[in-house]
Amino acid sequence: MLAIQVIADEERTLAWQRVPDPTCGSEEVLVDVCATALNRADLFQRAGKYPPPSAASDILGLEMAGKVSVLGDKVGDWELGDRVCALLPGGGYAERVAVPTEMLMPIPKDWSYEQAASLPECFLTVFTNVYMEAGLQSGETILVHGGASGVGTAAIQLASITGNPIFVTAGSSEKVNACKQLGADLAINYRKHDFVDKVLSYTNGKGVDVIMDIVAGSYMERNIQLLKSKGRLVVISTLGGVRTEIDLSVLMRRRARIIGSVLRSRSVSEKIEIKQRFMDYFWPHVLEGRIMPVIDSIYPISQAMLAHQHMKENRNIGKIVLKIQ
Ligand SMILES: NC(=O)c1ccc[n+]([C@@H]2O[C@H](COP(=O)([O-])OP(=O)(O)OC[C@H]3O[C@@H](n4cnc5c(N)ncnc54)[C@H](OP(=O)(O)O)[C@@H]3O)[C@@H](O)[C@H]2O)c1
Repeated sequence: MLAIQVIADEERTLAWQRVPDPTCGSEEVLVDVCATALNRADLFQRAGKYPPPSAASDILGLEMAGKVSVLGDKVGDWELGDRVCALLPGGGYAERVAVPTEMLMPIPKDWSYEQAASLPECFLTVFTNVYMEAGLQSGETILVHGGASGVGTAAIQLASITGNPIFVTAGSSEKVNACKQLGADLAINYRKHDFVDKVLSYTNGKGVDVIMDIVAGSYMERNIQLLKSKGRLVVISTLGGVRTEIDLSVLMRRRARIIGSVLRSRSVSEKIEIKQRFMDYFWPHVLEGRIMPVIDSIYPISQAMLAHQHMKENRNIGKIVLKIQ
């Protein structure tokens, strides 16, 4: 099959090259990939800073949508030709990928492969971190940094469905407007305003119950200032730096918690449980059209490097998709 390979040159060129086909385990299917979507982690992996977990494919790509083309021996309900999408530990930037059947999600009838490829990683990330790790409760408020990212646009949709007031930060007025249109109660341009001041003034000084943060670094102290009593801060990325100084007495007095979390390195059984719980709770909303990934742009796989550049320059609102076949 053909797949994207990262060439070890200065540019870390992405080349569409022939590689061995994946093998199909007895409880797996092979999927002919029609579309995959970019995630920030792909940029880090390409740069050699985020190696795949052991036993995972070293091909880029954490999600995909396509057609089942080979069935393992012990595959129950799935059939050849079924339209499916799935979260992957790697291997999405390819013509074929092996997926454990319990990780598959059926593509809703009126969804395109591009839409379906954009769902797994960002919606399962939000579900894991906001609902499972931070345990967001009915009526609680949430602040999400990177509101216009793939993950941020998914968070706005899920919080709107569960009726939780959601506040986001983003880096331009265009992104702020997109977040508001999607349902954010408050969207703050962090380049123009201090997000702590804005959230405190909007909440009459109360702050928020949950924060999902992709920045860390200099945001940590400010995040903690915003946490209510028993608040939870989930750190899911460190775009702003990995080291910082915080006043632990504030954390203690507020009986607040800081949680660190990654999805990719979790075991298959944990991911199956996450996927199943997400489907139990949110799939009816997917089928009703209340959940729909926001797509920024679609590139052919031959232009994967242009797509990466688009993300690197922080130009996307929602997901960037690669069309494969
Ligand atoms: N832990 C996990 O399991 C997990 C899973 C999935 C994703 N993630 C993380 O979640 C984040 C979003 O992922 P994605 O794929 O949706 O990303 P994305 O679409 O590329 O969006 C990332 C956005 O973050 C903002 N940003 C970048 N650098 C920043 C900085 N130094 N300070 C503040 N904001 C910055 C930019 O928006 P502005 O223009 O608004 O600044 C950028 O567009 C990534 O950091 C990713 O690594 C974590």
